[in-house]
Amino acid sequence: MSDSLMQLEAKLKELRERRSKVEQGGGPKRIERQHERGKMSARERIAAFFDPGTFVEIDAFVTHRATEFGMADVEAPGEGVVTGYGLVDGRAVCVAAQDFTVIGGSLGEMHAEKICKCMDLAAKVGIPFVSLNDSGGARIQEGVDALKGYGNIFYRNVKYSGVIPQISVILGPCAGGAVYSPALTDFVFMVEGISNMFITGPQVIKAVTGEEVSTEQLGGALIHNQVSGVAQFMAPDERTCFEMVRTLLSYLPANNLEDPPFVDSGDDPGRCDPKLREVVPVDPNKGYNMYDVIYSMVDNGAFFEVSKCFATNIITGFARLGGRAVGLIASQPQVKAGCLDIDASDKASRFVRFCDAFNIPLVTLVDVPGYLPGVDQEYGGIIRHGAKLLYAYSEATVPKVTVITRKAYGGAYIAMCSRHLGADMVFALPHAEIAVMGPEGAANVVFRKEISEAEDPAAKRAEKIKEFREVFANPYVAAGRGYIDDVIDPQELRPRVISALEITATKMVEQSRKKHGNIPL
Ligand code: HXC
Repeated sequence: MSDSLMQLEAKLKELRERRSKVEQGGGPKRIERQHERGKMSARERIAAFFDPGTFVEIDAFVTHRATEFGMADVEAPGEGVVTGYGLVDGRAVCVAAQDFTVIGGSLGEMHAEKICKCMDLAAKVGIPFVSLNDSGGARIQEGVDALKGYGNIFYRNVKYSGVIPQISVILGPCAGGAVYSPALTDFVFMVEGISNMFITGPQVIKAVTGEEVSTEQLGGALIHNQVSGVAQFMAPDERTCFEMVRTLLSYLPANNLEDPPFVDSGDDPGRCDPKLREVVPVDPNKGYNMYDVIYSMVDNGAFFEVSKCFATNIITGFARLGGRAVGLIASQPQVKAGCLDIDASDKASRFVRFCDAFNIPLVTLVDVPGYLPGVDQEYGGIIRHGAKLLYAYSEATVPKVTVITRKAYGGAYIAMCSRHLGADMVFALPHAEIAVMGPEGAANVVFRKEISEAEDPAAKRAEKIKEFREVFANPYVAAGRGYIDDVIDPQELRPRVISALEITATKMVEQSRKKHGNIPL
C-alpha cells in the first residue's frame, strides 16, 4: 500500500468514527428512554418514513459554537437535528428530524441553521419539506441566538408557503413560540400519546389562571384535531403517521409549478352508480351521509380526508377522479344540517387556498341550508370567518367544479363555489333546491300577514310553503339563468364530474397585477 493510500485510510477511519459518533445521537441510554416513552429516535423515524435506503444526510458534522453556561464543554452530535433528503414513492423530499436525545432536541443557533439550509435546498430544487418535531424548544443557554434561529425558520415557512408543500409532524413536545413553525406550514400531523403543542404549559396556566389541566388535555393530538383545528391529522402511532404523510404526498405536486401526479386506478371514468339515486333523499328533511356520495364518486375509494375530526359539518380532503388529484369540499348534512359556521368556514377556506396554490382542482358538493344561526356565531365573528370562504373560492384560479346535491340557500349557496364566485362547471341533481331561503322560512316572511289573518293559519301556511316549493325550490330557475350548467341524473355524478375536470384542465386565467389581496383573517 502506498504512503498516500495509508494516509487516506487513516483519514477514512477518522471519518467513519466521526460519522458513527454523530449517528449515535445522545447515545444508547437516551435512545432507550425514547423507546420507553413509545417514541422512535430521529434516525429510526427517517428510516421509517423514506423508501428503504434512500436517505442522504447533509450537515452531519455541524457543531454549535455556544460557550455560555458550560456549553463550551457540551458535545451535541449532529446539533440535535438530522437533515437531508430521500425518496417517498420514488419522489424526492427534504426532511429535518429533531433528535430529542441530544440536549432535548433543543433549538440553538446552528441547529436552526441546519433546518434553514435544508428548507432552502427544498425550495431551490422544488420539493416538499417535512419537519419531524421533537424538542424542548429554544436552547435556553443560547438565548437570543436561539430566538434568531426560530425567526429564520418562520421567515422561510412564510417565504416558501405556496411554493413547496410544507408538512410538520409533531412527535414530542412542541411548546412556546416553537409551535409557530408548524402553524405556518400547510399540514400538521400529531400522534396520540406522544405529541403535544401549546403556547404556555400546564404549570404556567395553573399559576396565572388557576386552571388545572394535563399536558394531553391541553395540547394533545385529539385536542388539536378536534377542538382547536391546529392539526389536520392524527395517528395512533408513529409508523401509521409516516404512512399517512406518504399518502398525503402522493396527492401533491412537488412544487407550485408542477401538476399533481396522475395515478390511473383502473376505475372506469364512465362508471355510473345507480345506488346514488337512493343515497340523496328527495324529501329535503331527510338526512343522508355525504361520505356515501363521495366514496361512490371517487376512483376505487381514493379519498384522503383532511381535518377529519374538526368542523365535521364540512368535509375536506384529497381524492382521485379519473386519475387526477382533486381537492374535495363537501357539506355534511348529517352534522348541523350541513350549515356553514365559523370553524367550517376556516377549515374549508384554508383547504381551498392550499389546493389553489398547488394546482389541485376543486370539486365542491353542496347541501347547505345556510349559515349557522346563533349569538355565539355572531359574537365569534361568523361575518369575518364566513367571508374567508367567499374570498378563497373567488381567488382560486384552478378548475372549479360544483355539484348541488340538494339544498343551496342564501349566502351559503353563493359561498359554496357557486357560478358567481367563478365556478367553471356547476351541476345540480333534479331534487336540488336553490333559493334565498327554504320554503318554510320564505312563506313565513313573505306571507306573514296573509297567514295570520287566514281562517285556518296552519292550512294557509302549508299552502304557501307548497307554492314556494313549486316555484323556487328546484334547480330550474337557476338553470334557466345559466347559473347551473346542467341538471343531472344522480347516477351520472362520477362521469359528469370527471368530464368537467377534463375540459377545464387546460383553463387559463389572466391574473391582475397586485401585490396580494387582503383576505379577512
Ligand atoms: C436546553 C434543554 C431544553 C431547552 C430540554 N433540555 N429542554 N436544554 N434548552 N429548552 C435538556 C434537559 O436539560 C435534559 O438535559 C434533556 O434536554 C432532556 O430533557 P428532560 O427534561 O430530561 O426531558 P423530559 O423529562 O422528557 O422533559 C421534556 C421537557 C422539559 C418537558 C421538554 O425538558 C422542559 O420543560 N424543557 C424546557 C422547556 C422550555 O421551557 N423551553 C423553552 C420554551 S420557550 P440532560 O443533560 O439532563 O439530559 C421557547 C421559545 C421559543 O421555546 C420562541 C420562538 C419564537
